[in-house]
Amino acid sequence: MTSLTIPQSPAIQATCAHIDDQKIPPSVFKLPQTAQLEALYTIIRDKETSRGDFLFYSDRIIRLLVEEGLNHLPVISRVVETPTGATYHGVGFEGKICGVSILRAGEAMEAGLREVCRSVRIGKILIQRDEETAQAKLFYSKFPSDIAKRYVLLLDPMLATGGSAMKAVEVLMEHGVPAERIIFINLIAAPEGLSNFCSRYPTTKIITGWIDEGLNEKSYIIPGLGDFGERRYCL
Ligand code: URA
Repeated sequence: MTSLTIPQSPAIQATCAHIDDQKIPPSVFKLPQTAQLEALYTIIRDKETSRGDFLFYSDRIIRLLVEEGLNHLPVISRVVETPTGATYHGVGFEGKICGVSILRAGEAMEAGLREVCRSVRIGKILIQRDEETAQAKLFYSKFPSDIAKRYVLLLDPMLATGGSAMKAVEVLMEHGVPAERIIFINLIAAPEGLSNFCSRYPTTKIITGWIDEGLNEKSYIIPGLGDFGERRYCL
């Protein structure tokens, strides 16, 4: 039998921080790694994929992620009567939710949330790297006024170092949202970002579609898909 050796790119060899499944923190939930999901990721990772296909297939993944995020919201029992006259003992969502997108790439996930949660309120937050301090810095935020009473689905497609996501959680907590009421949804996570984020906010759940190998020297996720914002918004 011939054995195959799959060559790794130099970037992966240099920076690989791969975590195996047993080491994934308990607050991290990965979508089921089905062949269908892998096919969707293969399309959006391919540098030859057109912008139209990138939009279509990344939207499909976003929809799956949002649905999974909603699985983590608490429910209470709810009894309804069906058209047959029978009583059905079911459940209903307990609290109100809102989305918060981390600009600009997170905005791409808003439509997917709206498809599933009609008329959902969505806040926005802009965080950028302060060139002097190299720290994530808040530039702008706008949230629903009652955000402290809501569950927050925090949206950002790429979890690289975790700097922006951690700053976003910090700002949300300053607005009265407890860390355990925040669910952070992303398409691809780097082990470095997961580890940074989970050690700082162990009670915030992370829903991710795929955990990649690591980061390169420019903090891009490897293998990743490049710059999500550019692939989505630039022709
Ligand atoms: N943001 C991106 O768009 N891509 C990465 O690989 C990392 C952060």
